[in-house]
Amino acid sequence: MLKHHNALGVALSLRPTQPATLVRPHAARRAARFFMSKFPGTSMYAVKANPSPDLIRTLWDAGLTHFDVASIAEVRLVRDVAPNATLCFMHPVKAPEAIAEAYHTHGVRVFSLDSIEELDKIVAATARDGVAATDLTLCVRLRVSSSHSKLSLASKFGVPADEAAPVLMAARQVADALGICFHVGSQAMSPQAYGDALAQVRAAIVAAGVTVDIVDVGGGFPSVYPGMEPGRLEAYFEVIHRGFEALPISYSAELWCEPGRALCAEYSSVLVRVEARKGDVLYINDGAYGALFDAAHIDWRFPVTLVREEASRAKPMEFSFWGPTCDDMDYMRGPFALPADIAAGDYIEIGMLGAYGAAMRTGFNGFTAGETVMVSDEPMDTLYAVTEESPDKIIQLRQH
Ligand SMILES: Cc1ncc(COP(=O)(O)O)c(C=O)c1O
Repeated sequence: MLKHHNALGVALSLRPTQPATLVRPHAARRAARFFMSKFPGTSMYAVKANPSPDLIRTLWDAGLTHFDVASIAEVRLVRDVAPNATLCFMHPVKAPEAIAEAYHTHGVRVFSLDSIEELDKIVAATARDGVAATDLTLCVRLRVSSSHSKLSLASKFGVPADEAAPVLMAARQVADALGICFHVGSQAMSPQAYGDALAQVRAAIVAAGVTVDIVDVGGGFPSVYPGMEPGRLEAYFEVIHRGFEALPISYSAELWCEPGRALCAEYSSVLVRVEARKGDVLYINDGAYGALFDAAHIDWRFPVTLVREEASRAKPMEFSFWGPTCDDMDYMRGPFALPADIAAGDYIEIGMLGAYGAAMRTGFNGFTAGETVMVSDEPMDTLYAVTEESPDKIIQLRQH
């Protein structure tokens, strides 16, 4: 992989004509170390947020051993990149063939479910010569509120706590270890999201009267974006620890989490080129069908900076972007603040695109990614920072 110090180095030396992905392995390593040292349990990485093999290898090398996979393609990918990783198949609705391949070929033992039908499917697909598996870890997904989060995950999956008893009791019968999992929605802006969800876990355990071995609080841990500046992640961990300790579970029960965004948002940015300007709208060479899916479809704001050898003295003004395809839908409203003299041929770095950026890219209309370049400068924003006195000690930059 090509290496440079920063976006300017890439712009000057490569003059990229397609969007260049700038990756910062040091930022992903730092986030992984933060979770491993501060989360009061086991941290996995939710591969869907960014399935780049380089990133998976970076996280594995940093010490992360557990990966949340949601499709058989993700199972194969992680097995290939990190053969000794523990894989947890946390999609509550799976194809029987995917379960069978995951279990029999790739050694996956952890599966999530939210219905008796899915439980039956897992039991059937993991049986050998008609004999049921005895080494399954089954996590029942509860439906919890997404009201504290920017992206809801409250509609599609999960059994409500007051309907979970039959599923928990049936799963207990066949599981070697029984877990309860949930997802509070992505980019949870308050730790209370986890406190409320753990209260639902308590209600479900009490109603079912089962022994629970694992509580998996899912993903949802935030990153930092313009207009979305969360508090310290330690405050989230404290609420989770308190809620977990208050549950009626065995002393040896385990606590897990599955962050996606929080581990990889800072990993990459994209260097785009302005192809045309019309007033306060810039035509750039990446968009809704590329790394800017969230900017187009849910008006997510990302930090931007003009990448020019000589800094502009012009005042900032607000722009919106058209992407490269012929679709009207390929539009990013922003607003994105950039110097008023920006023009065709200029480069812009768009930051904090490591999560759900590159992962969403299509080749629609023939527009796709250019080079991936490793850079060593800091991401455009961070929830994690290193103190100068003790470079190995990870602290959070923002003290709210
Ligand atoms: C089951 C599951 N776990 C973890 C994640 C990662 O969530 P986030 O990126 O918000 O941390 C997701 C995201 O959709 C998910 O569906």
